[in-house]
Amino acid sequence: MIELNKEYWSSKYIELNMGWDVGEITTPLKTYFDQLIDKSLRILIPGCGNGYEAEYLHNLEFDVTVIDLSEYPLNNLKERCPSFPSEKLIQTDFFEFEGAFDLIIEQTFFSALNPNLRNSYAKQMHNLLAPKGKLVGLLFNIGLYDDHPPFGGNLELYKPIFEPYFRFNVFEEAYNSIEPRKGNELFLNLVKK
Ligand SMILES: C[S@@+](CC[C@H](N)C(=O)[O-])C[C@H]1O[C@@H](n2cnc3c(N)ncnc32)[C@H](O)[C@@H]1O
Repeated sequence: MIELNKEYWSSKYIELNMGWDVGEITTPLKTYFDQLIDKSLRILIPGCGNGYEAEYLHNLEFDVTVIDLSEYPLNNLKERCPSFPSEKLIQTDFFEFEGAFDLIIEQTFFSALNPNLRNSYAKQMHNLLAPKGKLVGLLFNIGLYDDHPPFGGNLELYKPIFEPYFRFNVFEEAYNSIEPRKGNELFLNLVKK
């Protein structure tokens, strides 16, 4: 397995080789965000990439923090959205990050990580959430690659990973995926135990 480090991810942005990047906020997340009322929610988007979701939330005046291993997508977000607070654009490793958030957003970050980190991912998400905090987003519901991202899976595989840390509000096939991901995504809304 290649090492999925900062250099690996930066090279994807430098070479514009970002198959995951759809250039705009995706429908399931937009639909979820559009029904959020509480602007005081502390929101985190780890592995945010170019951060279209962060930009959308920021424009709605939500309190959003983004983290990514690579500075390239963070710079792209700052360039597109100069009013995004610099101190909330954080270049760091998700597994070393500390904080307390009410809502954490997942989209093609879990699938970007070596599958042997999945239990650590669930534990770290739990650590980063305040009491009653939620992990909301999308996971691939399809087998993908074995030796490089994106790594896939299915509900049966994911459930035992999240069960120790979360109560499942929603964990089922997404009904409003973008066209290329239709039928291949789960929507999750998990509440910190
Ligand atoms: C496949 S991209 C997804 C980007 C974004 N979530 C999206 O949907 O467009 C995965 C992102 O996670 C970042 N990443 C990978 N491992 C990370 C880690 N350990 N900590 C923080 N970010 C990481 C990569 O740099 C990359 O931007």
